[in-house]
Amino acid sequence: MKTIIEPFRMKVVEPIRLTTRGDRELLLAGVHYNLFGLHSDDVLIDLLTDSGTGAMSAAQWSALMRGDESYAGSPSFYRFQSAVQDLMPFRHVIPTHQGRAAEAILFSLLGGAGRVIPSNTHFDTTRGNIESSGAEALDLPCAEAADFASTFPFKGNMDTVALARLLEERAANVPCVMITLTNNAGGGQPASLANLRAVHEIARHHGKPLFIDGCRFAENAWFVKQREPGQQERSVRDIVRETFALADGMTMSAKKDGLANIGGWLALNDDDLALAARNRLILTEGFPTYGGLAGRDLEAIAAGLAEVIDEEYLRYRVRCNEYIGERLLSLGVPIVQPVGGHAVFVDARALLPHIPPLQYPGQALAVALYEVGGVRACEIGSVMFGRRPDGREVPARYELVRLAIPRRVYTQSHADYLVEVFEEIARDSRSLRGLRIVQEPPLMRHFTARFAPLP
Ligand code: F0G
Repeated sequence: MKTIIEPFRMKVVEPIRLTTRGDRELLLAGVHYNLFGLHSDDVLIDLLTDSGTGAMSAAQWSALMRGDESYAGSPSFYRFQSAVQDLMPFRHVIPTHQGRAAEAILFSLLGGAGRVIPSNTHFDTTRGNIESSGAEALDLPCAEAADFASTFPFKGNMDTVALARLLEERAANVPCVMITLTNNAGGGQPASLANLRAVHEIARHHGKPLFIDGCRFAENAWFVKQREPGQQERSVRDIVRETFALADGMTMSAKKDGLANIGGWLALNDDDLALAARNRLILTEGFPTYGGLAGRDLEAIAAGLAEVIDEEYLRYRVRCNEYIGERLLSLGVPIVQPVGGHAVFVDARALLPHIPPLQYPGQALAVALYEVGGVRACEIGSVMFGRRPDGREVPARYELVRLAIPRRVYTQSHADYLVEVFEEIARDSRSLRGLRIVQEPPLMRHFTARFAPLP
């Protein structure tokens, strides 16, 4: 059959409250055109993030009831640990309340002034944790990553030539190498096993541990199976195990490919580092057999890890995004290609060339998506990155809008509706106007800035 169906049916539903365009115009003015200010029940289709927003399965909901809330030595921890180690064979697994807590612990130990930590592209929280330790977070994406129209299959790869050069020149300052799977900041693009093997070799040659930010490891493995020569006959599970066998540790947000609503972990092989990490964990998160989580959360993650590597699930997951991407391209809406594993990224600069970067074309598009259709998406452009630490405002490298697709939540008719909203916007895109910022905080302005539409 050609149709790839949602490989599940629904037993519990959440109503979506329908609003009119008139309602939404008022709501937008009330939150000063910042979509983070909206109440989520005023949103029809919420594509702000794929993090923690997925639907859990019947197996996960029943596993919650098995949650054992003992302070120390809970059987829920041991089930969680063996589910992680089944896929990611690290000696130590340290639960945290979400991904950034694992990053904070890791970089409090490996970061520090004068150090530099390379990655394909660090996610914002990783960068933030590295920088707040005093170290430098260095992005070394492959050259193809910058070309939105290139259909190179592994735009999440790391630039291995640049990595080797960095380690030859500054090895003493590099405590570890990192790689983010998939590369969220770069559009949810995967890295190949060949690239991972090369990164592993370079790191090993210089005696540096390799850490994987594994948030979307299953989506990455699915792309490897689909796209990398020689990988088609392997199971996703096998590819996942090889991926992590190439690393010395990982950070994880279980809110993505853990299929859970909360949770994360730090895993690693080095005994001394694990001891130090557990000592920090006790200070900041909790005892090592629960970290920042309840026993029931550990159970939900253990069950989620068994489900996320299901290949029918992954086929459906990635196909949903491709479907949206293909339909947008056929409308002439420019997107980052190929479509990523967790999101479709729309190129607002190309769609709205009449809006200058510092009138925020991405924000203008995000506002229009909500006004026209009640869809909430996220600007990734000059609103997010335009304000420099020295106070200057400079256009970002790109003006994107991310449509992040929650896991197992929306159906094909939601996707068709989303495309229809774009159709309406694209029909008269010249009428969209930019915005100006009327109030902003000193840091991370995209969350709370206030905007006014330009006349
Ligand atoms: N690493 C990556 C690649 C991420 O995408 C995220 C979160 C984190 C780390 C941090 O994990 O949220 O559990 O602390 N990304 C979300 C997003 C917030 O919307 O992309 P966390």
